[in-house]
Amino acid sequence: PILDRPPFALTLGLIKPDLYADPNAVHAVFERLRRDQWEVVRQREVLFQPRDAGAFYAEHQGRFFFDRLVGYMTSGPFSAMLLRRPDPNKDAITAWRALIGPTHPVRAQVNQPQSLRAEFGLTDTRNSFHGSDAPETAAREINFFFPQDPVLVEYLAHWRGAD
Ligand code: PPS
Repeated sequence: PILDRPPFALTLGLIKPDLYADPNAVHAVFERLRRDQWEVVRQREVLFQPRDAGAFYAEHQGRFFFDRLVGYMTSGPFSAMLLRRPDPNKDAITAWRALIGPTHPVRAQVNQPQSLRAEFGLTDTRNSFHGSDAPETAAREINFFFPQDPVLVEYLAHWRGAD
């Protein structure tokens, strides 16, 4: 139940393979994160095999774009980040999704020109970023890349204790 209510101060962000391959772009993204006071608690470089991508995106199996998404996410290494807002009462999930902008970069350019996808995204497939969409998803996705990470474990225990 604790996961049902905001704020959830942690989220999982990805810098996808096309962007991660460009050191200048990655540098610019991290500058932006620093300016916007994001705390990058953990970061690791990941190389997905198709079955890893299939597991991470299991909920999208059967969608028309699934094979494209798996092809994209296995095209090279990418960065997985456990992100935290410095203020524990601020919702990291919403804030991160606002920063990256809409799924489709063209829509991002029109509606949220300041967003990361507007600046760096290329196509509907190569949209360069991912962010968890809800507390349950964030907990699952953080655990996917950072299994049993003490920061997540402590965070959940703290809120359970507060119940
Ligand atoms: S939904 O319906 O809200 O679940 O869909 P959405 O969050 O927009 O997208 C889910 C993930 O699929 C990717 N996606 C696509 N990939 C390739 N081609 C097309 N047309 C396409 N549409 C959506 C999208 O980038 C999402 O991946 P993540 O990594 O979560 O951003």
